Amino acid sequence: MQQLLFICAAKKINMKKFSLTGLVVICLNLCSSFLLADEGMWLPFLIGEKTYQEMVKKGLKLTKDQIYSANKSSLKDAVIIFGRGCTGEIVSDKGLIFTNHHCGYDAIAKVSTVEHNYLKNGFWAKNLNEEIHVPDLTVQFLERIKDVTEKVNSELSKVEPSKTLSELPKILNNIAQNELTESEKQTSCEAKVVPMFSGNQYILFVYKKYKDVRLVGTPSESLGKFGGDTDNWEWPRHTADFSIFRVYADKNGNPAEYSPDNVPLKPKYVIPVSIKGVKPNSYAMTMGFPGGTNRFETSYGVKLKTEIENPSIVELRDIRLKNMFEEMKKSDAVKLKLASYYAGVANYWKFFDGENKQLLKYKVFEQKQNEENKFIEWAKQNNKTEYINLMNEFQQCFDNWKPYTKAAIYFREGILGSQLFSYAYRVFSLLNASKEEIQKNKLNYIELVIELNANIDLPSDKKNTAILLKKYKEDIDPSFVPESIYSNITKDISMTGNDQSSLNAYQNFVSNIYSNTILLNESKFNQWLENPDKSVLQQDPAFQVLNAFYQIYSTKILPENQKFQTCNYLLQQKYQKGILEMNKGKKEFYPDANFTMRLSYGVVKPYSPKDAVFYKEVCTLSGVLEKYKPGDYEFDLPKDFIETATKKDFGRYVDKGINDIAVTYITTNDITGGNSGSPVLNGNGELIGLAFDGNYEALSHKIHFDAQYNRTICVDIRYVLWIIEKIGKADNIIKELKISA
Ligand code: ARG
Repeated sequence: MQQLLFICAAKKINMKKFSLTGLVVICLNLCSSFLLADEGMWLPFLIGEKTYQEMVKKGLKLTKDQIYSANKSSLKDAVIIFGRGCTGEIVSDKGLIFTNHHCGYDAIAKVSTVEHNYLKNGFWAKNLNEEIHVPDLTVQFLERIKDVTEKVNSELSKVEPSKTLSELPKILNNIAQNELTESEKQTSCEAKVVPMFSGNQYILFVYKKYKDVRLVGTPSESLGKFGGDTDNWEWPRHTADFSIFRVYADKNGNPAEYSPDNVPLKPKYVIPVSIKGVKPNSYAMTMGFPGGTNRFETSYGVKLKTEIENPSIVELRDIRLKNMFEEMKKSDAVKLKLASYYAGVANYWKFFDGENKQLLKYKVFEQKQNEENKFIEWAKQNNKTEYINLMNEFQQCFDNWKPYTKAAIYFREGILGSQLFSYAYRVFSLLNASKEEIQKNKLNYIELVIELNANIDLPSDKKNTAILLKKYKEDIDPSFVPESIYSNITKDISMTGNDQSSLNAYQNFVSNIYSNTILLNESKFNQWLENPDKSVLQQDPAFQVLNAFYQIYSTKILPENQKFQTCNYLLQQKYQKGILEMNKGKKEFYPDANFTMRLSYGVVKPYSPKDAVFYKEVCTLSGVLEKYKPGDYEFDLPKDFIETATKKDFGRYVDKGINDIAVTYITTNDITGGNSGSPVLNGNGELIGLAFDGNYEALSHKIHFDAQYNRTICVDIRYVLWIIEKIGKADNIIKELKISA
């Protein structure tokens, strides 16, 4: 009954303003049943009735309209894209934003100096004037959505299938731009068309992008990143992973470039905060922007990942991390310079390592094979001829690509793992650009070279480049190795031929590149731009080396990669269509995550990670003190924090059940990277925490959701408020919130 109501409501919307027809059709097909467990990253404007009833059963008190409404203000208006890949939420009527510390990390590092080191010491603005504008930081509000499947398909029908993927971005972008209204264009709105179910559906998203975002508060890194990479992706966890920003607008509430005249944005919706706390089975709901999953990945994809992709990435990142860490330990300046870059590399180094372990442990390859066999069986029994050969086609597609995979990863993660080469790659177009083009993009080039020189740490980058070049030669098939480069180096290797002498030869070679490239000499580079003589670049050692690799990559690997991407996309499209067809009326599906707004619901719940071990659902302030290691890089704590915590000055944020501060808890929600910073909401839609991580036992979650082990790690809002009030002494921030006890 209510499902019918929803569909009618959606159709009405459609007739008025939004073309939701396609959505309704897919929803009719798919929303008729629900998945077990709390799997699902649901499009919030498309929640089926059975899913909604499940949410209600678990404790949701809101109507669908209160969560997502096209016409009225609703929860979704307070859930924003923070920066390039995170989520944030609006918590005051003056545009105050909560997000994770690791989401604000880059911004905090950027506005810090060795003298004013907010990353190290924390920062609390006591009034608007003290807030710090962060250059290049943006936030985006979701304005509207529309199904544009028919438009995209009609354009795609004019394209040869083998060109689908190469043409798709242009087609999607054209449609997106055409859909933007004049007033949207004038108010910094951006439009994007995103494929769902691998192109079985296409949806337009319009975002309003604000460019004046300021830092309001952050705990010191020792709290905000407490436990560092050792605890990253792990439960139990004691991290105060939050930071606070504010979005500013012009006097009309529209986006504007930074100006002291801008005013705090008056938002459409503000999320209230609850300090009632959670217990096992408390309802928990997240809304946010999960970046990507591959839940329909085939056994062929899983095998390629576990055998080639993940081990290669992990091995190459391991090298870079060790060398960077050694330098970061030595000086605050280097630490600040590399902090954000290092954190990004480290985060997914541990992720891919853990993902591999869990994919193997849960026998995901075998599970996928089973599913594929069932699918083919169904196709045969139902005479669905278009699907019968699908798995052989997948196999062919992957077999063709496999010989190139490792070289592709070594180019991307190895050669471009060198900071110097990665920037050289970004200004690589200089090699082929005309004088006019260079003139036109001059400022871009200058900016990139300034950025390179500001960001690069020469000692660690030189080491990395030498080792990565050596490793490429040792591990990669000779047909992908640019011999011209290596013959210079091997000439130098002494007759002893031992590893050290060989590494020395690589280091000499690299030293020469770094001393002579104009990329590391800003004034020479700027001079060159005045009168760009191509032969100088062709002789430049950084360009020369990168070019040798790039020639191989672009002629031998990239074309194969494009073929692979295309066949995999088209086969996935067919496979997903088939799976939806096979389960019609039985099971509800959500499209893979793709950095569009999703909702997930679940409950607070403990788990057992392995035999005889039980993990409670909550960590405490006492537990933070238990982990404290004076002077440690990851587990040190500030003095005032230890004092306040030891005094047990909990105030109204105490959890009476444990007579302690609950710092973090875990839920059964289904989230992934991009969700970081997502509001965790109780049944009334009040903020009870911020999602910030997934647990180690479920690191296979992008490909396979494991209902038994999957947990979302959240920082308890009461810990957030306790730190703001007792450590930051920022009552001004607390006063802005709508807190209910
Ligand atoms: N694993 C978290 C995520 O991907 C990031 C945590 C950042 N902390 C760190 N120690 N690197 O959202």
